Amino acid sequence: MLKDRSILLGITGSVAAYKSIELIKGLRHEGASVKVVMTEASKRFITPLSIELATESPIEPASGNSVYCDMFDSPLSHVSLPADADLFVVAPATANIIGKYANGIADDLLSTALLAFNGKVIIAPAMNWRMYENPVFQKNLQYLVSIGVKTVGPERGSLACGEEGIGRMADIEKIMEAIRTALSKQDIAGEKVLVTAGPTREDIDPVRYISNRSSGKMGYAIAKIAKRRGADVTLISGPVAIKPPDGVDVINVETANEMHAAVMDNISRSSIFVMSAAVADFMPAESKGRKIEKKEGLSLDLIKTGDILEDAGRLRNKPFIVGFAAETGQRLDRARKKLVDKNIDVIVFNDVSKKGSGFDVDTNEVVIIDKKAEKRLPLMSKDDVAIALFDRIIELKYNNG
Ligand code: CTP
Repeated sequence: MLKDRSILLGITGSVAAYKSIELIKGLRHEGASVKVVMTEASKRFITPLSIELATESPIEPASGNSVYCDMFDSPLSHVSLPADADLFVVAPATANIIGKYANGIADDLLSTALLAFNGKVIIAPAMNWRMYENPVFQKNLQYLVSIGVKTVGPERGSLACGEEGIGRMADIEKIMEAIRTALSKQDIAGEKVLVTAGPTREDIDPVRYISNRSSGKMGYAIAKIAKRRGADVTLISGPVAIKPPDGVDVINVETANEMHAAVMDNISRSSIFVMSAAVADFMPAESKGRKIEKKEGLSLDLIKTGDILEDAGRLRNKPFIVGFAAETGQRLDRARKKLVDKNIDVIVFNDVSKKGSGFDVDTNEVVIIDKKAEKRLPLMSKDDVAIALFDRIIELKYNNG
């Protein structure tokens, strides 16, 4: 994703400065080259040598110097460093650097380089909650936001001073995702994408339920990639144990009936609908309002749930619709039949009995089937499956396949 992209990272004097190591390693792992500007105060929290080592990669050594601290070591570095960068990230960003940047103060290498940069800037604020909530700081922050600077975090939690409040630097994965978004093509901007994910739970009684092995990872990856590529995203999620992507509207549901209602409430506002949830096909004919006791015995009478995808395919003004076909074995014929029977635009076939594919793993091996072509993809991460799926959706929607 970040291959050959060049990122200039500013590190300022916050306790969170040590987390920059993980950020640099993450960026290097995804193929980015990273140059770092450290302020004097940041060197109290982490040494330039530790940062220098993090910018190295055994596979692809960093080219030339990677850590810069002093304006006058190399007098034109405040101009040459930003000129070579695709993106400027300041993480952690203290109230001081945010105040200087918002007011055009350039009195060290980092503040000067920020002024000399005219590309995209991301800041990850980190400070005590009183500083964060101070109207003077808020004015500076809002000014930066108004000129297009992206902010990630801060988050609420326990702060370095021992107090609880807002001010913790955002998680590194959130900063990474903001970086991927800033450097990603925005080719589905303007689309309203509705995604379903995870399993549903059908109550037997208040304690027991029927469900399936879906983890929600595929649907959450689809929502994340749609958001990264510029779409407005609504995610209807069954009960899962993973965090939703930032900036996505989430509607939590439990049962197939609740998911059905949530889809029908939102689909008319959507231009692309991806049904990746593993909806229970059957639910108990009746759900007891009290716990069934062991001595009563249990035999279940099941009835079919409504088919959400099929009902979506029947709508008169329907969006572009994608379904998933979870099969055991290479039953592409069954997936092709679902494409036609459910009257949808694309179906993604996966063999859930195959290793590394299907439920509760981070990878998937799929065939993207539409009316014009079938694209068989190798085993890849669920993020990459989502990227390939949107590439195909765009080809079909905008370029007629
Ligand atoms: N689906 C749905 N509502 C249901 C069941 C399934 O919307 N009650 C959707 C799934 O989200 C998926 C597609 O239909 O996008 C195909 O689901 P799958 O389980 O593969 O097939 P089914 O239609 O349930 O048929 P079968 O169980 O015979 O394979």
